[in-house]
Amino acid sequence: MAVGIFAGSFDPFTVGHLDIVKRASGIFDVVYVAVLTNSKKTSVFTKDERVKQICNAVEDEEICNVSAISFEGLLVDCAKSVGATCTIRGVRSPTDFDYEYIMAQTNKYLCGELETVVLLARPEYLHISSSIVKELGIHSASIKGLVPEINESIVAERLKEYGRKR
Ligand code: PNS
Repeated sequence: MAVGIFAGSFDPFTVGHLDIVKRASGIFDVVYVAVLTNSKKTSVFTKDERVKQICNAVEDEEICNVSAISFEGLLVDCAKSVGATCTIRGVRSPTDFDYEYIMAQTNKYLCGELETVVLLARPEYLHISSSIVKELGIHSASIKGLVPEINESIVAERLKEYGRKR
């Protein structure tokens, strides 16, 4: 059975992330979407909120072979704990790829058996990132079409609140 893991910050989970999840679910028997900490970023949403956003979107799309989890620590350890042999990443640009290349090599150094599969983002999602969603939402701009519709109002409210408190 082919088990893949799509790890990320997902702060928040975007339609670009959802597209990668859908495509990965067609390649792997089981896909774990894992909320991990990126030590270079501070997050707006709690891990539980991000897991909930992923669960909502996956259920809404009726994708049956995908589960959302969260993990503290290294991606290679998370992959081992769920039996994943392959990590999945989405790439939007050559700049993204440079970053992914270093991460993939680091993960390979840490765990020789773990492979990395890179899926190229669809052209219509190239401009979408969690950072852009946060930037717009914090300033109360519309985030319609940037996050899965099922999460739109809750994400917009939280970002507005975060923007007010800053
Ligand atoms: O969505 P992001 O922020 O690009 O995801 C990056 C993430 C969380 C996948 C990456 O930072 C990560 O794997 N963090 C866990 C710590 C780890 O395993 N580091 C070694 C690989 S560079």
